[in-house]
Amino acid sequence: MTTPRRPIRLLVFGAALRTGSLNARLAGLAADAIHAEGAEADLAHIRDFEVPLYDGDTEKAHGVPAGALAFRDRLLTANGFVISSPEYNAAMPGVLKNLIDWVSRLKPQPFAKVPALLMSASPSMVGGNRGLWSLRVPLEHLGARVYPEMFSLAQAHHAFTEDGGFAEEELGRRFSDTIAGFLDLVEAEVHYPCAKHAWVEFLGEHVDPAIDRVQAS
Ligand SMILES: Cc1cc2nc3c(=O)[nH]c(=O)nc-3n(C[C@H](O)[C@H](O)[C@H](O)COP(=O)(O)O)c2cc1C
Repeated sequence: MTTPRRPIRLLVFGAALRTGSLNARLAGLAADAIHAEGAEADLAHIRDFEVPLYDGDTEKAHGVPAGALAFRDRLLTANGFVISSPEYNAAMPGVLKNLIDWVSRLKPQPFAKVPALLMSASPSMVGGNRGLWSLRVPLEHLGARVYPEMFSLAQAHHAFTEDGGFAEEELGRRFSDTIAGFLDLVEAEVHYPCAKHAWVEFLGEHVDPAIDRVQAS
């Protein structure tokens, strides 16, 4: 008999702006799989978090924009997040990096210690996987607990059925297994004490309140 899950809620979104985004479809399937696993999914669109290009002068004059605050607020209602991101020129899209940069300006720093699962979809044979390696860098830098496994959907323009499911049954199973594994980890993170107690932007830096980016839990 399997043990029922304790309550878990994840923020899920695709990181492409365009209508008909393959990554939005994959994010939708992730939300379905999360529900099927007995957890809650808050399916968002990156347009819910629209922000101007990061500019230190804008921040000084007007503070952090509403889109970044909205992201922070949605993240606060969740125990982790799932991003399905396109790969642009072997890296993450600028729109996503720009959002991360704005959100990182908030204190407490919203990504610290939050579990994250990364996915991608692309018409290419590698499914946008290189973009996810670039996405890991800022997220791990900010203290997010990025799940070691990632899911990249190759030839994504042929990968879905008309009703939006996976054309290949085995692929659908692997996708659900990845989600289930991530949910197991989130459940453990939420319900068991964690190993890392503080987020320090640069380990070993000199203590200086003027520049400190340190948060103890
Ligand atoms: C500026 C730009 C750069 C791209 N670079 C890559 C790339 O490096 N690797 C890749 O697999 N696809 C690349 N693509 C193709 C995208 O993977 C494809 O457009 C995909 O459908 C985008 O995701 P979406 O469907 O969620 O919008 C690029 C597309 C654009 C617009």
